[in-house]
Amino acid sequence: MAGITITGVVKGFGATPVLRGVSLAVEPGEFVALVGPSGCGKTTLMRIIAGIETADAGEIVINERAVTRLRPAERDIAMVFQSYALYPHLTVRENIAVPLAMRRLSVLERLPLLGRLLPGARRKRASIGDEVRRAAAPLGLEPLLDRRPGQLSGGQRQRVALARAVVRRPAAFLMDEPLSNLDAALRVQTRREIVDIHRAAGVATLYVTHDQAEALTMADKVAVMMGGELLQVATPEAIYADPADLRVAGFIGSPRINTLAAEADAEGRVRVAGVPAGLRAEACGALTLALRPEALRPAAKGLPVAIEHLEFLGDGLLLHARHVPDGAALVARLEPEAREGLQPGAALRLGFAPGRALLFGADGRRVAARADAGLVPA
Ligand SMILES: Nc1ncnc2c1ncn2[C@@H]1O[C@H](COP(=O)(O)OP(=O)(O)O)[C@@H](O)[C@H]1O
Ligand SMILES: [Mg+2]
Repeated sequence: MAGITITGVVKGFGATPVLRGVSLAVEPGEFVALVGPSGCGKTTLMRIIAGIETADAGEIVINERAVTRLRPAERDIAMVFQSYALYPHLTVRENIAVPLAMRRLSVLERLPLLGRLLPGARRKRASIGDEVRRAAAPLGLEPLLDRRPGQLSGGQRQRVALARAVVRRPAAFLMDEPLSNLDAALRVQTRREIVDIHRAAGVATLYVTHDQAEALTMADKVAVMMGGELLQVATPEAIYADPADLRVAGFIGSPRINTLAAEADAEGRVRVAGVPAGLRAEACGALTLALRPEALRPAAKGLPVAIEHLEFLGDGLLLHARHVPDGAALVARLEPEAREGLQPGAALRLGFAPGRALLFGADGRRVAARADAGLVPA
């Protein structure tokens, strides 16, 4: 079965380390999104997997075959990058057919006129034509097969690049921000198509994006990379609700997760600005309490805040406030009906269920915690 296994990949450019020992497995048939801020090393890792760049250390296995020392063409992977890299002088049909023509036709058979006269070439071309149509149809490209790239929109060009990747039936797909040139509406539609293509092909896919929403919506597993290191690899649900690292918690989710300085006494009792927070941590000393906007709600007991402003979202309401003791900014995501009675400048308490509170140590790693009965906030 086909999959991608990356083990201990290290890469530096000159004295600058870019990848600091990256290990990641994309299981057969799995869709893994590699997400992280711009410049964290995502493209460098993809280029190393593809064989366009060499690693300083580490191993790449594709389809149970060590490919670290193989040329790109020998690795049996298809790549789709942000730039479409289509041949401008070839039609859509010919562009999609390129990988098959290169693989199946001899140099003579590929010649436009002479090739047609050679015995066998006609049959091979017909079967290539069938496969091109099969790759083009689900992407809505059939009506465009005779156009040239110059006569297509950006979204259509990216679909041609996708069809050209699919038609090869590779052991793995590598996609590096393939949607970043598309406008928002087209991006959402093409996301769905890429997921459908992946399902239909059943091939291990590593998909790079800097957009955390794209990673959460598309992937079976999300790998969060920062500063050339993978911080966490987990399901979208676990990455969101159970982040292992404060940087993961801060990068994933919009609006951004709220953070407050906290401290735990020798018994692990957590206080925020001196007030017991209803939590018992398995650590003591300085901590960060992190709360998703939807984990906060107006309550009788809770964090004392001053309302700054309200943002009506249609299906929700964002309450922007300041934590009175230390001025920390907080955002709560409420039901739209909650607007009644909330006025800028007014004092309010924001409560949270202890189960929704996330604690992180001074090193940014997650600290286990449980509810501590009888304390505020409730
Ligand atoms: N060929 C190169 N030579 C020198 N530095 C490079 C080269 N390619 C990438 N880098 C640097 O490596 C870092 C990671 O780049 P990249 O992998 O493109 O990040 P990402 O795709 O996550 O935005 C960046 O600081 C970038 O400037
Ligand atoms: Mg990049």
